[in-house]
Amino acid sequence: NYTPLTYIYKAAATPGASTLLLLHGTGGDETDLIPLAKQFGEAFNILSLRGNVSEHGMPRFFKRLGMGIFDEADLRFRTDELVNFVKELAIKEGFDIDKLIALGYSNGANIAGSMLVMYPNLLKAAILYRPMQPFKQLPDDWKTDRQAPVFLSNGKMDNTINPLHTQQYSDALQRAGFAVTAHEIATGHQLTQEDVATSIKWLNSLY
Ligand code: MLT
Repeated sequence: NYTPLTYIYKAAATPGASTLLLLHGTGGDETDLIPLAKQFGEAFNILSLRGNVSEHGMPRFFKRLGMGIFDEADLRFRTDELVNFVKELAIKEGFDIDKLIALGYSNGANIAGSMLVMYPNLLKAAILYRPMQPFKQLPDDWKTDRQAPVFLSNGKMDNTINPLHTQQYSDALQRAGFAVTAHEIATGHQLTQEDVATSIKWLNSLY
């Protein structure tokens, strides 16, 4: 019994465009990352979702038990739900599900990471700002056949994320076959223009 998610969809002028799947941080909504996505140019469809889990009124994409302690059963359920929803939407709105580029910040980056674990061949690329490893234990047989490029940026002064854990997560993504590009930004947990500019440059260099 999956519930539909609240979303904004804006099609690019050119048919067959890739779609930026926008996933906000805790307490955000589907409007948050639209201005950021526009900086990537006009070539992408934009699909922005609102997390359907509420933490004291703050939208999130899955439940947590504490800061950085995830309810992994809920994360699995919500990841299936989100993927299901996006697949149905691809048919309804007419975008190509094989050209999906996830772009997530914080909690949004974490459900995007869960998509990379549970659906390793779904995404064309992923941009993860301030991510954490979504599951404590990653599957032994975790492998992508698609070798999708993954951009990851962490904050050097981020006191919610241990840089060692970011490194371990990045290494695990690499071992699973993703083409990881990792950046450390001289900031905290908040998103900076440097994250945005660096990820735009990275994406433009790929396609
Ligand atoms: C999470 O719960 O996904 C992380 O703690 C990041 C956050 O949302 O603050």
